[in-house]
Amino acid sequence: TCTNVFPERSVDIQTISPRSKVSIVGAAGNVGASVAYSLLHRHTPVDIKLFDINQKLLKGQSLDLADSAWLGESMVHHSSDLSEAGDSDVIVITAGAKQVPGETRAQLLDRNYKVLESILSKVQPIKKDAKILIIANPVDVLTALAQKITGLPYNQVFGSGTLLDSARLRNHLSKILNVRQRSIHCHVLGEHGDNQFVSWSTARVGGFPLDCFPEMKNIDKDGISTEIANKAYDIIDSKGATYYGVGVCGAFLIHHVLANTHDVRTISCYSKKYQSYVSLPAVVNQCGVDRVLEVDLSELEQEKMNKAVAHIKEQVGQFF
Ligand code: 2OP
Repeated sequence: TCTNVFPERSVDIQTISPRSKVSIVGAAGNVGASVAYSLLHRHTPVDIKLFDINQKLLKGQSLDLADSAWLGESMVHHSSDLSEAGDSDVIVITAGAKQVPGETRAQLLDRNYKVLESILSKVQPIKKDAKILIIANPVDVLTALAQKITGLPYNQVFGSGTLLDSARLRNHLSKILNVRQRSIHCHVLGEHGDNQFVSWSTARVGGFPLDCFPEMKNIDKDGISTEIANKAYDIIDSKGATYYGVGVCGAFLIHHVLANTHDVRTISCYSKKYQSYVSLPAVVNQCGVDRVLEVDLSELEQEKMNKAVAHIKEQVGQFF
């Protein structure tokens, strides 16, 4: 027999190490569940609470995710009461309709605005210094609308933006150059949507301009830009949805906030220069967006940026 040599119960395991609180709204869906899964397997101890309108599926996702967390310091639970999300350090919103084959991200706006508005009316009160991370499409527009609905400071409300597109580009260039993706700094900017563009003029690999690399000679850059912009459409055609890539993007952004890492990522953030939310590189830390890097672009890239900003402003203007 096993004798308990400790007469009193020791400290409750749930209180051993302080964990940051993260809420994921829309967590029964594949994007929300992928964010939770990636976050559970990072080394930041977190207490993740999952919410979704589909309670049955949410319970299944929550129990399954909890089964994956046995080697880490993080915990996962679920709840049906959205007001419990308000006191989180980071509130992630992944809820909303997703594209069907052939549909653009912009076409989701009316449906996903209603979902966003309804969620934010229930996640109340929101902790004063909470960060809101939007991962639903069209993400640049919904992030701007989330800021307007909540009235939170710009730095506290941001979206996954073109981080995923930039990751796709790094992956592509890594194969051409035979260089590790982490050494490649080349950004997709503008809009996480059809008005995205590659900022080739600012691209660096190991600190050197991209065009120094002989492998880039005779490379069809426009072809690469188009391939990156179409990647989501290709995946949606094949499997109906994309979620693992954006799941990792979401988990990294949360980690940058909770661990105050000051990493530079291309996200949906408020630009003073453009007086609009738009996807730009920004330093992400415990403030959310610490600062936005309003980079100088080539003339052609600047035109594309202006077009993206105009498109985002026009869409936001339909509601505010
Ligand atoms: C993606 O780019 C569909 O926005 C989603 O994968």
